[in-house]
Amino acid sequence: MVDKELLEKGTLRLRWAEAHMPVLAAVRERFKKEKPLKGLKVGMALHTEAKTGILAVTIAEAGAEVRLASCNPLSTDDSVALALRENYGLKVYAKKGETSEEYYQNLNSVLDMKPDYIIDDGADLITMVHTSRKDVLDNIKGANEETTTGVIRLRAMANDGVLKFPVMAVNDSKMKFLFDNRYGTGQSAFDGWMTATNLMVSGKNLVVAGYGWCGKGVAMRAKGLGANVTVTEVDPIRAIEAKMDGFQVKRMVDAVKTAEILITVTGCKDIVRKEHLEVMRDGCIMGNVGHFDNEISKPALNELSKGRTRVREFVDEYEMKDGRKLYLISDGRLMNLAAGQGHPAEIMDMSFAVQALGLEYMVKNHASMDAKVYTAPDSLDYEIARTKLAAMDVTIDDLTEEQRAYITGWQEGT
Ligand code: ADE
Repeated sequence: MVDKELLEKGTLRLRWAEAHMPVLAAVRERFKKEKPLKGLKVGMALHTEAKTGILAVTIAEAGAEVRLASCNPLSTDDSVALALRENYGLKVYAKKGETSEEYYQNLNSVLDMKPDYIIDDGADLITMVHTSRKDVLDNIKGANEETTTGVIRLRAMANDGVLKFPVMAVNDSKMKFLFDNRYGTGQSAFDGWMTATNLMVSGKNLVVAGYGWCGKGVAMRAKGLGANVTVTEVDPIRAIEAKMDGFQVKRMVDAVKTAEILITVTGCKDIVRKEHLEVMRDGCIMGNVGHFDNEISKPALNELSKGRTRVREFVDEYEMKDGRKLYLISDGRLMNLAAGQGHPAEIMDMSFAVQALGLEYMVKNHASMDAKVYTAPDSLDYEIARTKLAAMDVTIDDLTEEQRAYITGWQEGT
């Protein structure tokens, strides 16, 4: 029996996302007519929520058979998963709160279709094809990767000479990282944080670990919300950027002593570990928006605490052996998707346009591509940017012929 209420909720969520994704809508209209993915099988592992749903429908309407699983056990919107199955007949293997075993079973179910192409977020699907599921490797012609963490893993595979097919680093397109990583993560981190805690950000000491594009976005929004922001970094250039953007820059061991809110966004592991937890300010609320749940050490939290209580739907209280209480949001997993609803639709509009057009490019060009990590051509970024500007009702200037000659020439100095 279909849960009608859940289905209605998912249907409306998809409709809302669709109405705010004009660039993807334009791609979808063209794909519907031209069917650039006709007869292909596309296996997807992405956060299964409304915006992703519109991408999956776009790929299916381009002629592909689609299977979708979640790339994180906590990021599925069950109402959307149901609506995709019921309204569009898509095969969706995802459930919010799935166990680790179910998570891998779902990824395996996607791979069982023997995909021609993969769309991944975090590179779990792609790495499985190189390890436990080599049986489907031969059929795969290429893949797209959505996120910084996934691209880092794939570059490491390419450097080790083990990557077996070309991969498009969607994350590295300007129309992805400049907006999704910065403004998307900046906003959705606090969507998750506020849903989880229902507390104030203003006036609090807030530590942002990592000052990449995502960290920049989180720090910028935290400042806008009135927090006293401190940044921690290991990269000296990024540390100077943070300093000159007006933030305090400290070592983690010093920053945690006064931190009331701490947000990790590095893509690396063990950012908050035993030595930091030992001196952390009583009451600090920790959350992560990096891809994996290993940025805040849960083993160290368990070791130093007497016990853990779920005090709100997405918040665990750790009672430390020395009497302090520390808090962790959504078990250290992406709080913007586990407790919040992910990046705004207007942002995913651009990221998923890169995904759709990147896949079309890969299908056309895979035969001449090597088993390397590629970035989509600039022309694709500009096409998306122009469509987005038009949808935002913004017009910009054009160069005059004289100006074009000036900036492309070398003879004129004045
Ligand atoms: N929604 C779908 N995919 C997402 C992602 N990678 N980050 C944030 N929100 C998303």
